[in-house]
Order: sequence, then C-alpha cells, then structure tokens
Amino acid sequence: MSSKDYSPFTPGQPVPVEFFVGRSKEIDHIISAVRASTAGRLQVLFLTGERGIGKSSLARLVRIIADRKYGVLGLHSFLGGVTSLDETVRRVFDRLLKESVGKGWWAKIKEFFGDHIRQVDLFGVTVEFGAAEKELRRMVHDFAPALRNLLQKLRPEKKGILVVLDDINGLAASDQFANWLKSLVDEIATSSDPLPLCLMLVGLEDRRQSLVSLQPSLARVFDVVELRTWSDAETRDFFVNAFSKVGIHVEEEALKILVRFTGGFPVMAHEIGDATFNEDTDNRITREDALQGVVRAADIVGRKHVEPQVFTAIRSPRYRAILRKTASKPFEVEFRRRDLWPLLKDDERKVFDNFLARMKKLGVVQANPEGGPGAYRFTNTLHYLYFWLEAARAKQSKEL
Ligand SMILES: Nc1ncnc2c1ncn2[C@@H]1O[C@H](COP(=O)(O)OP(=O)(O)OP(=O)(O)O)[C@@H](O)[C@H]1O
Ligand SMILES: [Mg+2]
Repeated sequence: MSSKDYSPFTPGQPVPVEFFVGRSKEIDHIISAVRASTAGRLQVLFLTGERGIGKSSLARLVRIIADRKYGVLGLHSFLGGVTSLDETVRRVFDRLLKESVGKGWWAKIKEFFGDHIRQVDLFGVTVEFGAAEKELRRMVHDFAPALRNLLQKLRPEKKGILVVLDDINGLAASDQFANWLKSLVDEIATSSDPLPLCLMLVGLEDRRQSLVSLQPSLARVFDVVELRTWSDAETRDFFVNAFSKVGIHVEEEALKILVRFTGGFPVMAHEIGDATFNEDTDNRITREDALQGVVRAADIVGRKHVEPQVFTAIRSPRYRAILRKTASKPFEVEFRRRDLWPLLKDDERKVFDNFLARMKKLGVVQANPEGGPGAYRFTNTLHYLYFWLEAARAKQSKEL
C-alpha cells in the first residue's frame, strides 16, 4: 500500500493512541485519581475544556491506560442528547455489556445481568442491555450497590471501575441528575463497604457551572481537570509524528505554517493536517502545500464546526469583512472597539453596532468586563480561529 492511500488524521474522532500528543500532566492527574479509587476512595472528576480541545480523546486514552496498567474496568459512555437519568444509567450498563462480550469475565457478567441481556444478532456478538423500566428505575436508585455487586464478581481480574460520562450537556440542566450525583457521592462516602469507583464527567465549563448551581455542594465534590490549547512544541510534535507515520516529510517552512494556523487546537490540527495531506502529491509537504491546506481547511472548518445560525448570519459580506478584521491578530481572542474602528470602512462602521448585537446574541462574541467598556472577546476559540483562517485566506487571494 502506498502511503498516500490513507490519511493519518482523524478529524471528528477521538484520536488513536499512536497519534495522541501532549496532556501528560492531565493524564497523571486522572491516573492518580484512578489509582486512589482502587484503594477504595471514591473519586469524582470533571474534565472540561472547549469544544474540540480533546476531552473525549483524553478520556479514551486514560480508560485504556487504566485498563492495561492498573486492571481497572473502564466504561466510556457518550450521552449527547440524553436528558434522563434512566437513559444515562441504561447506557452505562449497556457499555458494560458491550465491553465485556468475548472477555474472560463474560460468564460472570452474564450471570450478573441474567435475562436483561438482549442478543441483537445470531452469534451473540452484539448485545444490548434490555432491563424493563421498573428494573431500570431500581438500578438508578441502587447504582452504588449494583456496582459493588458487580465488582465483587469481577475480582480479581478487575480492581476497580472507571465510569466516564461524556457529553453531559443534556443532563447538566437536570435537577434530578444533580441530586442523584450528590446522593451517590454521599452514599458511597458514608458506607462502610468501600467502592473502588472513579467517576469522570466530561463537558463544557458552563455545564459544570450549571450542575453546581443546581446542587451547590457538588462544587466541592468535583476534582476539575481543565484542558487548554497545545503549546507550539506539542503542535509541532503532532504534525511531525503524524506525517512521518505515513512516510511524508514536512519542510521546516511548511511546519511553521501548520503550527501557526492550528492555534494549539487539536481539532484544527486534524482539519489542517488532513487538508494538507490531500493537497500533497510527492510525499513532501512544502510551504505551498501547507498554505493551500490551510485555505482548504478554512472551508471545511466553516462547514463542519460553525453552527448553521452563525453561518447564515455571516453570509453578509460586510459582516464577514468585519469579522476578518476582528480576528486578524494572531492569538488574540480579545478585541476593543476603539482599536478596531480605524480599520473599518464607512459602510462597515454603519452596521457595526448591529453586527455586535447579532454576534452577541448568537454567542460568537461576548463583552469582556476585564477590558473595560467596548472590550469584547470571542466566546469560543474555534470561531476565532475560523475567522482568522478566513482573514489569512482573503489576504492570500489579494496577493495572488
Ligand atoms: N491529544 C491529542 N492528540 C492528537 N489529536 C487529538 C488529541 N486530542 C484531540 N485530538 C483530535 O482533536 C479532535 C477533537 O478531539 P475530541 O473529540 O477528543 O475533543 P472534545 O473536546 O471531546 O470535543 P467535543 O467538545 O466536541 O466533544 C479529534 O479529531 C481528535 O482526534
Ligand atoms: Mg467529546
């Protein structure tokens, strides 16, 4: 197979272990929590960070490490769109079944779940957790005892359990969920029977705050792990490693461009990397390949990562022009009205206040109280990076 047959980049999917870069501090933090939990001390983590910063990828990696190095059973459930507690618990047990099929402890799991296991195919390879509603209610209520029973059965193969509840956006507004969490924690803490459980919630920072406002004592419960952008060195490692895995050399000038436009954002790294990979024809990434890649990536990022409402609002050429000027400084997600004003043309000035109001309403920008009156910031880095790419593209097409 020639190396051009497949791209080493995986935009939109948790990254495979061999392409994972950075995060060593956060990995250590989470793994120590997992280890503490195997000694019988409940740990509750909240992994937070912006969209596309790499939360699910990190969760996946620590689940694998916890399993291979520490004999901890890891269950990673995606709860996007889930709003009910019953469904949350159903998915955790469903994950458990799917994770256990074909493993050494499958017989024990079968015994544990009895007739709640639904075989979806003829060969028993695909299974589903099919408890009746009443039964499920009981499992929600008796979540801790159920896990305790389960672990008793799984010993000595498994020393503990890591439950990852990913994308809890739909649950963060639920009173029921917040209270369930709090009671779960209290129950485990006051029980004389230890439960080697590490629970990790994954979501945006405002979801954590929403949970805490519903149930203030959760603030003390969560051990917060916050993901930030990569350093330039990490971004560089990422590109060098990914391209070299498929036998492609990246010239230094090209590497600089890739690193610069990625802005430390993993999701951006994959989009730019993939577009550049597709641009290249001779297994050598040159400055031109990289520039073309960045321009192509801008299109893709716009279509894939910018919400449709925002996309519609910025159809207006004037709004686009203003946005490009707003995001024209590298790595400055903040901007001030008075700095921007001299850069605007007359017709842009006329619509500027409407523009700001619209962008605020859509959540693209927000007031930045620290900067005083007239100071704003992009609400999320991905939006900013998108407009920045657009600005670079506009500049490039003028120069061409
Ligand atoms: N440490 C990493 N090394 C290499 N690639 C990464 C890393 N972290 C994330 N990525 C890549 O970045 C992209 C976004 O990652 P991921 O889906 O994990 O982010 P997320 O924070 O869970 O996003 P969302 O908030 O949308 O769920 C994916 O394409 C993933 O492969
Ligand atoms: Mg995710």
